[in-house]
Amino acid sequence: MAEGWKKSDWRAKPRVQMPDYPDAQALNGVEETLGRMPPLVFAGEARRLRSELAKAARGEAFLLQGGDCAESFAEFGADNIRDTFKVMLQMAIVLTWGAKVPVVKLGRMAGQFAKPRSAATETVNGVELPSYRGDIINGFDFTEGARVPDPARMLQAYTQAAASLNLLRAFSTGGYADIHRVHSWMAGFTDEPAAARYKKIAERIEDAMDFMTAAGVTSNTAHELSSVDFYTSHEALLLEYEEALCRTDTTTGLPVAGSGHMIWIGDRTRQPDGAHVEFCRGVQNPIGLKCGPSTTAEDLKVLMHKLNPANEAGRLTLIARFGAGKVADHLPRLIETVKSEGANVVWSCDPMHGNTIKSASGYKTRPFDSVLQEVREFFACHNEAGTIPGGVHFEMTGKDVTECTGGVRAVTDEDLSSRYHTACDPRLNASQALELAFLVAEELSNRRQAVKDIAV
Ligand code: PEP
Ligand code: CO
Repeated sequence: MAEGWKKSDWRAKPRVQMPDYPDAQALNGVEETLGRMPPLVFAGEARRLRSELAKAARGEAFLLQGGDCAESFAEFGADNIRDTFKVMLQMAIVLTWGAKVPVVKLGRMAGQFAKPRSAATETVNGVELPSYRGDIINGFDFTEGARVPDPARMLQAYTQAAASLNLLRAFSTGGYADIHRVHSWMAGFTDEPAAARYKKIAERIEDAMDFMTAAGVTSNTAHELSSVDFYTSHEALLLEYEEALCRTDTTTGLPVAGSGHMIWIGDRTRQPDGAHVEFCRGVQNPIGLKCGPSTTAEDLKVLMHKLNPANEAGRLTLIARFGAGKVADHLPRLIETVKSEGANVVWSCDPMHGNTIKSASGYKTRPFDSVLQEVREFFACHNEAGTIPGGVHFEMTGKDVTECTGGVRAVTDEDLSSRYHTACDPRLNASQALELAFLVAEELSNRRQAVKDIAV
């Protein structure tokens, strides 16, 4: 870990995508208050996630990362948390079936409040205002007052994150996550005529569970069947918040980000000498790094050395997000760089952020088919290179929203306006997210078969 690193060192580095708070005194007050609060996660949990991710790097586990593009104060409530958690567990069962390895469940939850934006301002009907940057920074309403960055929002975000994590921990171990219950939820999806092709997989999973029960392996005898490990993650964008929640882990004496189990660096903030890389390199949590079309092999090399100097497996997850049709133009050069450096990384696929388009009806959307195509291209590149596709990263919700088009329930361009609730990017709804899990499971299963055939 970075010798002599201090949690405030990022302040001396160039920063992008961060707000200028007009009231410095109010900001200091919030930072002090947050600094006295308990951390949201325990360093031992972050280390456990790191060892789970080390397995994903070796192909002995598979990462499922998912949740809102931006958590919002207005949409906050137990039902939303429960529904996203519920779909993620269903997806995890399906992926476990396909990959035949444990699935690491990591929410974009309990901290995913700050958003990088492609433009600093937004113009509506000739009025130009600063862009909305997520509820932890300013307000969504298109008024001058709402768009002023307000540090007090960090306290509300912290409180919401703490309450979210509390509920997630209760769901994880309190009986709600029992595998039999999770599997029974699946019927609502697979009973739809359009989803008939997925029913066979669901039946095979059910058979496997019946067999286990008959053999005496039940939720009472095996706690793995009645509870889950669920981790949290978010983009470490607002560094005042991250610094204020950074703590020294008493077990190892090393710094740990107390804001979530994994933090990641976005595609717009990964400058090797910038503030965000500086903060993330010093904490012991697993770190995600978004890799987009502009990521050069040289930058990746420097970033891997900075973020993971000891080359520990599980420390660094590279999250590829290029867009359907573009993966083969970019991913192979980065895979080559990782190979030639002998770097230990988890390769994960974010098929969302390169596939945002404006629909004919004017809404920002993502076609389900583009999302699926990018995942398939990601797998194809790894199959070609002989490397391991270690996970997927989705913007999704457990609610029945209409934000992405397509899927078995066929959301159309015209449907988008009916339940378009996201505060930022369009998310897969529950049915689309589960369908994608079935399709990724098929990819994983084919890949396993192909590896077996080669071995024979
Ligand atoms: C995100 O994950 O919400 C995001 C903004 O992604 P990216 O940095 O890859 O554009
Ligand atoms: Co997004």
